Amino acid sequence: PTEIKKIACIGAGYVGGPTMAVIAQQCPHIQVTVVDINPQRIADWNDEDLSKLPVYEPGLPEVVAEARGRNLFFSTDVEGAIRESEMIFISVNTPTKTYGVGKGMAADLKYVELCARQIAEVATSNKIVVEKSTLPVRTAQAIRTILDSSSINGDTGASNKKAQFAVLSNPEFLAEGTAITDLLHADRVLIGSEDSEGGKQAEQALANIYANWIPREQIITTRIWSSELSKLTANAFLAQRISSINSISALCERTGADVDEVARAIGMDSRIGSKFLKSSVGFGGSCFQKDILNLVYLCRHFNLPEVADYWEQVVTLNDYQKHRFAKQIIDSLFNTVSGKKISFLGWAFKKDTNDTRESAAIYVADELLQDRAEIHVYDPKVKAEQIYADLEYLQANRRNTTQENGQLSSEEIRQLVNVHQSPFDATQNAHAIAVLTEWDEFKTYDWQKIYDGMLKPAFIFDGRNILDREALKAIGFELTSIGKG
Ligand code: NAD
Ligand code: UDX
Repeated sequence: PTEIKKIACIGAGYVGGPTMAVIAQQCPHIQVTVVDINPQRIADWNDEDLSKLPVYEPGLPEVVAEARGRNLFFSTDVEGAIRESEMIFISVNTPTKTYGVGKGMAADLKYVELCARQIAEVATSNKIVVEKSTLPVRTAQAIRTILDSSSINGDTGASNKKAQFAVLSNPEFLAEGTAITDLLHADRVLIGSEDSEGGKQAEQALANIYANWIPREQIITTRIWSSELSKLTANAFLAQRISSINSISALCERTGADVDEVARAIGMDSRIGSKFLKSSVGFGGSCFQKDILNLVYLCRHFNLPEVADYWEQVVTLNDYQKHRFAKQIIDSLFNTVSGKKISFLGWAFKKDTNDTRESAAIYVADELLQDRAEIHVYDPKVKAEQIYADLEYLQANRRNTTQENGQLSSEEIRQLVNVHQSPFDATQNAHAIAVLTEWDEFKTYDWQKIYDGMLKPAFIFDGRNILDREALKAIGFELTSIGKG
């Protein structure tokens, strides 16, 4: 059908939750059911108290309040949702593999494969299967193979053709922290389809859904491989801009230039553009590093070593930027942070999210902990258990094994890392403050009060270049910013 009435989404995470909430809000005539194998996540999505939603996103509670219970449902009944729906979004996680072939590089597709197998097993009517997760090029082929083999009876080998499937690629371009506006006002919606009549019909059905709020000319259609590759390419280009400006920040520090001035000057060239040129302690988030490593892996697989090396450098430079920041803290504190109290303002990978995946804070903390620093964290949205889990995960899954990093036990981590509910507690008697996330509230603090509570000299390392340099220096802080010589 080209008019879909029932949608299922497998995966109620940072993408599945907000995306489906917006579809349900914009399309009251479509029933949207989001399912997940994690019962706690589903319970949180169903919580009466909207501040308990598992994803923190500005504007999300309002959208959920409007649609939930009307035409938006969250459930653990994956099979039921598959059976009932005409269109199924796969929006499960695709993290970097931590084992076996492609370890540390390739995307782990086991969750996607499980979804395809489950759809194949359960479906008794025709389904449009939509890849919403970010996937390597040609994954649709694998999904198609699994779905098609379902119509063949395992015991008899006979074809029962109980259901037919169309596979679409519909990558998501939202950024966390701005997910709702990004979804409502997407620059473009991308739909890749198979080159067949069924493929074109499915493409139209999905385009019709988005057309409820996205102008038709911004809904673009391509071949399925191009769509899959466009997602990896978009993230690689965005991350490349950050690594480019961060590389220049190192040069600025040596030469006395100011990276923010350089960014402003080049950004006014309309060919370059001003966005994504904010130098920082390094990019984080669940997407950039994972997707670039995946791209690099694909290039090596297709025997394109020069292309692989080119993109890998974006990640290498990002590792360097995080390391540089940590090293600068240690160097400035007279070459050791052992036993010293270092306050972290921010742990999330960017402002306005509670997501911490690949946050620069984790890597900077790890380096300081190797030198036995005492770390005191304040983040407005991240829970203490998440911070401990992040550090423990890094101990177990270090990508860069060439670094001479020792293993820290869970006990050591819990001894050395403290999490606070207030920035003033976190900075009391601190030797230094490091700003890791650009939360707006950090700019509004009574910095004189914070200064008074710290040990002297009072160091601040602004990893986001958000603080008022002149004002802090006037108070007496020893301030170090990124890319300001
Ligand atoms: P997430 O980890 O927040 O959510 C994934 C959810 O899928 C989890 O809740 C997990 O329990 C569930 N899940 C896994 N296997 C399942 C199964 N077999 N059945 C039911 N549920 C299952 O991940 P995310 O950040 O939402 O990312 C999802 C995908 O979207 C990834 O491929 C990612 O690359 C892509 N993406 C993410 C973003 C982003 O900003 N986070 C943006 C664009 C694209
Ligand atoms: C990114 C893409 O922007 C989005 O299109 C895709 O769908 C998912 O991946 P996300 O990771 O959520 O989104 O946030 P983004 O705003 O891209 O920021 C990623 C990281 O780069 C953050 O750590 C951020 O602080 C950092 N960053 C961003 C910079 O350091 N400088 C910048 O100029 C921009």
